[in-house]
Amino acid sequence: MPIGRVRLPSGEMVPALGQGTWKMGESARRHADEVRALQLGLELGMTLIDTAEMYAEGGAEEVVAEAIAGRRSEVFLVSKVMPGNASRAGTIAACERSLRRLKVDSIDLYLLHWPSHHPIADTVEAFETLKRDGKIRHWGVSNFDVADMDELLGVPNGGNVAANQVLYNLARRGIEYDLLPWCQERSIPIMAYSPIEQGRLTHHPDLIRIAKTYQATPAQIALAFLLDRDGVIAIPKSSNPQRIEENRGSVDLDITDEDWAVLDAAFPPPSRKKSLEML
Ligand SMILES: NC(=O)c1ccc[n+]([C@@H]2O[C@H](COP(=O)([O-])OP(=O)(O)OC[C@H]3O[C@@H](n4cnc5c(N)ncnc54)[C@H](OP(=O)(O)O)[C@@H]3O)[C@@H](O)[C@H]2O)c1
Repeated sequence: MPIGRVRLPSGEMVPALGQGTWKMGESARRHADEVRALQLGLELGMTLIDTAEMYAEGGAEEVVAEAIAGRRSEVFLVSKVMPGNASRAGTIAACERSLRRLKVDSIDLYLLHWPSHHPIADTVEAFETLKRDGKIRHWGVSNFDVADMDELLGVPNGGNVAANQVLYNLARRGIEYDLLPWCQERSIPIMAYSPIEQGRLTHHPDLIRIAKTYQATPAQIALAFLLDRDGVIAIPKSSNPQRIEENRGSVDLDITDEDWAVLDAAFPPPSRKKSLEML
């Protein structure tokens, strides 16, 4: 089955299943495998790649650069500025460093990694300047709860936010109480990070049991849960070719209403506000 698509506020469509890169670029020994892993993901249609200046202090962006060399136009490239750099001038300088490491002219979606002590109005102004200069195409935020989003929408051009990347998986459903519907109502996509809880969900007995009935794996069920939600993009990270194929296979699953109910019982949705969790 083809990978579903999610609409950005601009109308542009991006894949609902992409690839993460946290922990990539940390070891010269693993470098070639990481490049090949991302390339395999691209071949399988997982053409949205999420990285950040923080990951391996730029090392992950360098892995991405190698993986996308010669195929830039296929890729929707996401990177992030660290909050400490998110002043007006600092954001622009950080983006230019990322562009050099990524060896591209433009980043498709540039995110503020988490709320910063720099005024959000300044970061947004820098994002808008980067957009005008063609260095980024869209900007967004990460780890922003509803109150942060409200504040963002109150500053000039804050409404141009194109996505909010947050921790969201079966074991972390807190955003379903407020942030997810808040974003859905405004057509702002949620990028679900750590979609398989950094691998830990694969050991959950209920997931193992349900997965068996579909001849699937727990990771596939965890991803299928996210792919079933409107406006949600999942970005699993793997450097392992077998697991990349496995993660891609999650789009083929058709979970019955009965089994969704079993998953709800095993991983109950929130019944009250919980502060946004971060990893
Ligand atoms: N904005 C933020 O603050 C933030 C925070 C965290 C993450 N992120 C982004 O989101 C991406 C994904 O999150 P994540 O890396 O934290 O966690 P994740 O994607 O939930 O899990 C990655 C871990 O699970 C393993 N794995 C992948 N597929 C698997 C499978 N099918 N079966 C068993 N294990 C599997 C990977 O190991 P192998 O590589 O060995 O397969 C890796 O150790 C990150 O890479 C990053 O790009 C953003």
